Amino acid sequence: MSTELKTEIYEEVERRRNFAIISHPDAGKTTLTEKLLLYGGAIHEAGSVKARRAQRKATSDWMAMEQQRGISITSTVLQFEYENCQINLLDTPGHQDFSEDTYRTLSAADNAVMLIDVAKGLEPQTRKLFEVCKMRGIPIFTFVNKLDRPGREPLELLDEIEQELNLQTYAVNWPIGMGDRFKGVLDRQQQKIHLFERSAHGSKEAANTIVDLGDAKIEELLEQDLYYQLKNDLELLDGVGPELDIDLVHQGKMTPVFFGSAMTNFGVELFLNNFLQYALKPGSHESSLGEVPPTYPDFSGFVFKLQANMDPKHRDRVAFIRVCTGRFEKDMTVSHARTGKTVRLSRPQKLFAQERESLDEAYPGDVIGLNNPGVFAIGDTIYTGKKIEYEGIPYFSPELFAILRNPNPSKFKQFQKGITELREEGAVQIMYSVDESKRDPVLAAVGQLQFEVVQYRLENEYGVETLLEPLPYSVARWVEGGWEALEKVGRLFNTTTMKDSMGRPVLLFRNEWNTTQLQQDHPELKLTAIAPVSGQTSTS
Ligand code: G4P
Repeated sequence: MSTELKTEIYEEVERRRNFAIISHPDAGKTTLTEKLLLYGGAIHEAGSVKARRAQRKATSDWMAMEQQRGISITSTVLQFEYENCQINLLDTPGHQDFSEDTYRTLSAADNAVMLIDVAKGLEPQTRKLFEVCKMRGIPIFTFVNKLDRPGREPLELLDEIEQELNLQTYAVNWPIGMGDRFKGVLDRQQQKIHLFERSAHGSKEAANTIVDLGDAKIEELLEQDLYYQLKNDLELLDGVGPELDIDLVHQGKMTPVFFGSAMTNFGVELFLNNFLQYALKPGSHESSLGEVPPTYPDFSGFVFKLQANMDPKHRDRVAFIRVCTGRFEKDMTVSHARTGKTVRLSRPQKLFAQERESLDEAYPGDVIGLNNPGVFAIGDTIYTGKKIEYEGIPYFSPELFAILRNPNPSKFKQFQKGITELREEGAVQIMYSVDESKRDPVLAAVGQLQFEVVQYRLENEYGVETLLEPLPYSVARWVEGGWEALEKVGRLFNTTTMKDSMGRPVLLFRNEWNTTQLQQDHPELKLTAIAPVSGQTSTS
């Protein structure tokens, strides 16, 4: 590789930041995304993301389902420039459309932004997504949102994060007042106070006044009680709180915390500036060749998500690939690690919301969309040069289970084909009973929508109408050591054993309580909520 290309890749990696937002519905993810794009100059007036959404609803027929339910099934990647940095925001589906894709997207993210509603604190979906980030050890930045509304005490929220998530916190900025009296934030490192002015709907960047903490004017600008409250809080934070430790942040053990209000733009710019400074740049990845740095000369990447029918005019599939090393170029011919085939990547797409622009090149940390002529499965590696294979993507613990029946025997073949393809695509997990006489597949999903998508697509793409019979389980655990380990413990109570599509044992439980009970009765049995990736690609 030429020195120029090496330098080019290095420079591009240095200026890239990639992240996903993890949050519970309604915490303000759409609003924050919109405001980040506003500051990034990618849109000129906030409201556009929502407007795009509405527009899309009007034009798209995949999904008729989207229209009916007023939700967005497709997740996208938003790319924008800010302060000479190239930012990639991996948008995770998060509402009623919560699915395994939400988890998988996190395997392509280098950083996560945990968005919390100040009035609610940690919520279930945030906790689940946090667990995936923790498993990957990626940096987590916390944005506490909606300070323009009454909420919980900031110190109490920090405590909740520390206790429940076992994550150290460092408040990078600190709120002054809350609700109607939210005046702004103190930037603790610069020791400057950012006082904000409310704009009508926060559609433009917020105007703010920056004053030194030591400035005598402060006492005039702030009401007395807010001023003293700030002084007290700071004494406490400086006195007992830890210092900001960037290494701990990068290891995912400490979270920098920001307070603000996405809706009114309070604190968004400050957050963005700090995020760019502290976030991890695209780094090394574990592979069959050991740890490979992003500046490794050859191109490589892995598939983290497959999406069918994004564009109703072309009933195609798009494979989303996270670039890990080298430079991606349009029309490149790559090798496909699992099958050994060569694939020409002729129609790469850059992704901005639903629009598809064609793309000429991409670098580590970027995501590209490739039309998938059926060769790609979740976790596949593509590469040029020496063969390389990335670890793959695990199966995440499903929470909803249902038997899928095909009432029409003449449609058996289509049914089987559809199930296999949808499983390979990662639309849903498939499990089977260990009882050979029960051959109907069990669908296992993390969100209800996955069932609906599977039934919809089986009917529309494979011509098979199916029946769904819900099962009363809500927890799945894989067994470390497989069947051998399971046989050793003998008969188990209050659980049902199934086989996943790799033939590995999975235990299903009705509730967490039964799971805990079994763990207590059989401490020698090691159960995991996330299935190991080993051999994941070998059966597809
Ligand atoms: P989500 O994507 O995480 O689900 O949340 P979204 O941004 O859609 O925000 C959920 C609701 O919270 C929206 O109100 C939004 O305006 C509001 N919100 C977001 N950030 C803030 C904030 O900083 N302060 C306040 N007070 N509200 C905030 P909505 O009434 O559901 O929708 P809309 O009518 O405002 O569009």
